[in-house]
Amino acid sequence: MNPVIAIDGPSASGKSTVARRVAAQLGFVYVDTGAMYRAVTWRLLHEGIDPAKTAAVAAFSERMDFHAIIKGGTTRLECNGPIDPDALRSPDVSSAVALVARVPETRARLVAEQRSLRALAPLVMEGRDIGSVVFPNTPYKFYLDARPEVREARRHLQGEEDAINRRDNIDRSRAVAPLRVADDARVIDSSSLSIDEVVAAVCSALDTAGLQCRPTDSHAS
Ligand code: CDP
Repeated sequence: MNPVIAIDGPSASGKSTVARRVAAQLGFVYVDTGAMYRAVTWRLLHEGIDPAKTAAVAAFSERMDFHAIIKGGTTRLECNGPIDPDALRSPDVSSAVALVARVPETRARLVAEQRSLRALAPLVMEGRDIGSVVFPNTPYKFYLDARPEVREARRHLQGEEDAINRRDNIDRSRAVAPLRVADDARVIDSSSLSIDEVVAAVCSALDTAGLQCRPTDSHAS
């Protein structure tokens, strides 16, 4: 069974950059599950479906043709056709995605897709429920956090229009797979740490657990 490193946490906690770098150092495939929820949201909006209408989102999710295709160490997404990764971080998608992600039928489809990827490669998978729901038995679980004002400032610096507090509140309070710290996750508060320091903390815990990170030259993020 391929190993899975689960990296969960709220918006702008540094998950994506850290997960990409840890994946590169381990030689594992990086999987961004947030991009999957964003891909469904983008397609819904494109098809004129209101993301606030739970029944419509559920019906769409049950019949959608969704694929995550691992190629060259990353994942390409299809949802009723190809998805342009650059479209996924638009303000429209960011403000609607948490509404879509709270729908149980949507989660069931995407969680099944996420679990199926493990058969293909060792993974570093980031999201909200990877350690708690998708791979609860993996021994490699991390939860990255940072103070709300630090996360707000980071998102602002990224130049993205994104009401992260509102999104985090929906993610934390939904009935199915809410954002929470898995019981056995290692919590890292990155409020006053650099990315290098967070990556070092994750890699040091993985080294102790028997998985060796190897420093790479490129810090692609
Ligand atoms: O980049 P950021 O951390 O702000 O968000 P993201 O990882 O792209 O996730 C976007 C949204 O997808 C989250 O706010 C959740 O509503 C949803 N999501 C989820 O419910 N479960 C996951 N495993 C990943 C994302």
